Amino acid sequence: MPFKNRITEMLGVDIPLVQAPMGWIARSQLASAVSNAGALGIIETSSGELDAVREEILKMRDLTDKPFGVNIAQAFVRDPNIVQFVIDQGVKFVTTSAGNPERYTKELKDAGLTVFHVVPSLDAALKAVDAGVDGLVVEGSEGGGFKNPRDVSTMVLLPLIRSKVDVPIIAAGGFLDGASMHAAFALGAEGIQMGTRMVSAAESPVHDNWKKAIVNAKETDTVFLNRAHSPALRALRTEKTTRLEFENDTNAMTEFGKATDLYFGGDMEASIALTGQVAGRIDSVRPVAEVIAEVKQQFFASLEQMSRQYS
Ligand SMILES: Cc1cc2nc3c(=O)[nH]c(=O)nc-3n(C[C@H](O)[C@H](O)[C@H](O)COP(=O)(O)O)c2cc1C
Repeated sequence: MPFKNRITEMLGVDIPLVQAPMGWIARSQLASAVSNAGALGIIETSSGELDAVREEILKMRDLTDKPFGVNIAQAFVRDPNIVQFVIDQGVKFVTTSAGNPERYTKELKDAGLTVFHVVPSLDAALKAVDAGVDGLVVEGSEGGGFKNPRDVSTMVLLPLIRSKVDVPIIAAGGFLDGASMHAAFALGAEGIQMGTRMVSAAESPVHDNWKKAIVNAKETDTVFLNRAHSPALRALRTEKTTRLEFENDTNAMTEFGKATDLYFGGDMEASIALTGQVAGRIDSVRPVAEVIAEVKQQFFASLEQMSRQYS
């Protein structure tokens, strides 16, 4: 059965599923596998390594003829020319996150790009819609990554925002299969974004130690850090993050260390492994295409089973 909704139309994809932007990780190896599987790969800029990002976008053109997007994580990219940089790469879809949607939306839209802004609250969603975005990524606090210290779960946030705005919504935070996608659609989303499932996919470039830690994690094995500071973050439970969990006087960012020593060196205490609660539902490392095909099959099976049972 084909998917057809505003997200598939706007993004030009077969499946309304987006791979999350993730510093150093969301590069061509992972993003091209996602795009080639009919979903949307995204290239990160939050590493701040724009020369490497440019190379990765060039590689994408060799690795796939399918659409892909770029993320501008505003708080992490200090280059004042970031918008022109993204426009120059010729991509058509951009998500903006971790910052004010008024800052870049008009310039990006004037250049013909489709702009979705990532929001963790209703106020942020209304502000983004006022700024003229084409859609929202609504991100609940169970997801991995940098977070609003005032955390709200996807289950509450998604239907709340849906009831107040008309633009299409991609739901993020806690998704990995067709049943969770079906739930998101019931709550008003037309697409889903996956971070933690993609970090632990076969094509993800991260060290096996991180993938294994996700596979072995229970649903209680993430911590929400830095509530007293900003940004807050959700990460895998390790010795370091367990210590930081209730140390309100310490800004966890001062102990972030060198991300790449953890990401690619495999030293799980060297930095902080941004990871969502959904790690508790992930029990193997699998190729992206297999995951995406299964999500699609499960989504339609779940729809059919529900309508049979309750009609
Ligand atoms: C390792 C990691 C890095 C992330 N980096 C970014 C980023 O650079 N920009 C961004 O908008 N979101 C980032 N996020 C958040 C994801 O985009 C996504 O919304 C989140 O992972 C969804 O929840 P899930 O982990 O339950 O799938 C990151 C998440 C992870 C796990």
